[in-house]
Amino acid sequence: MTAKGEYEETGAALKADAWICGRVTMQQHFAEPEPFTSVSNRPAGPQPVHVARRAPSYAISVDTSGKLRWQGGDLDGDHLICVVSEQAPEDYLAMLREKGISYVVSGASSVDLGQAAELLSEHFAIRTLLLEGGGHINGASLDADLVDEVSLLIVPEIDGRRGVATVFDGLSPDRNVAVGLKLKSVQERTSGTLWVRYEVVRNQRS
Ligand SMILES: NC(=O)c1ccc[n+]([C@@H]2O[C@H](COP(=O)([O-])OP(=O)(O)OC[C@H]3O[C@@H](n4cnc5c(N)ncnc54)[C@H](OP(=O)(O)O)[C@@H]3O)[C@@H](O)[C@H]2O)c1
Repeated sequence: MTAKGEYEETGAALKADAWICGRVTMQQHFAEPEPFTSVSNRPAGPQPVHVARRAPSYAISVDTSGKLRWQGGDLDGDHLICVVSEQAPEDYLAMLREKGISYVVSGASSVDLGQAAELLSEHFAIRTLLLEGGGHINGASLDADLVDEVSLLIVPEIDGRRGVATVFDGLSPDRNVAVGLKLKSVQERTSGTLWVRYEVVRNQRS
């Protein structure tokens, strides 16, 4: 099986209600190439959650200022929910409504991930999120105490490109104790790939 096949199979095995990625990763793999350009340039401010529809599974993008352009309300067969801050322009939200895309507005100048998680649970019954990176959304979610488990697929390849985020990046400099992890399982997959699962140990945090 290819590394991509292993990745998809592992994600499916984790049985989350939704998968979620940061703006940079969504731009790289799923959104339209050109970013959204606002005509009004008026920040939407606080807004109610928009439920375009409910679905068996969801894809969630976290995009502070509403830059990502989308073809429609489905991503790889999952209904798309855009989480944005109050800085996202009014006409960005109008575009999402027109395309049948759901959204959650949370946080004044940056996305409040904790509040967004609560709203996703309340309005879409999403309780378990499969956080798929990149490193900055992973780091921010850890800082917000939203990560219960770390699931790593270690592929026998080295990618040391300069400027690429680490698995957890940009954590608060005030954090002076490393986040403790407890090993749950190690499984050897095909082609020398290892699937390692850890539980996040909450009482060891700073
Ligand atoms: N190996 C893997 O499995 C894997 C998986 C995913 C990604 N990747 C790689 O990771 C790299 C991208 O990672 P990245 O860390 O640069 O970007 P990222 O985590 O995908 O996205 C970060 C962006 O998310 C937005 N965001 C919204 N609210 C945020 C919050 N509260 N905290 C942090 N970010 C928030 C911000 O967008 P704004 O800048 O608009 O505010 C931020 O710049 C790519 O090279 C990708 O290929 C690897």
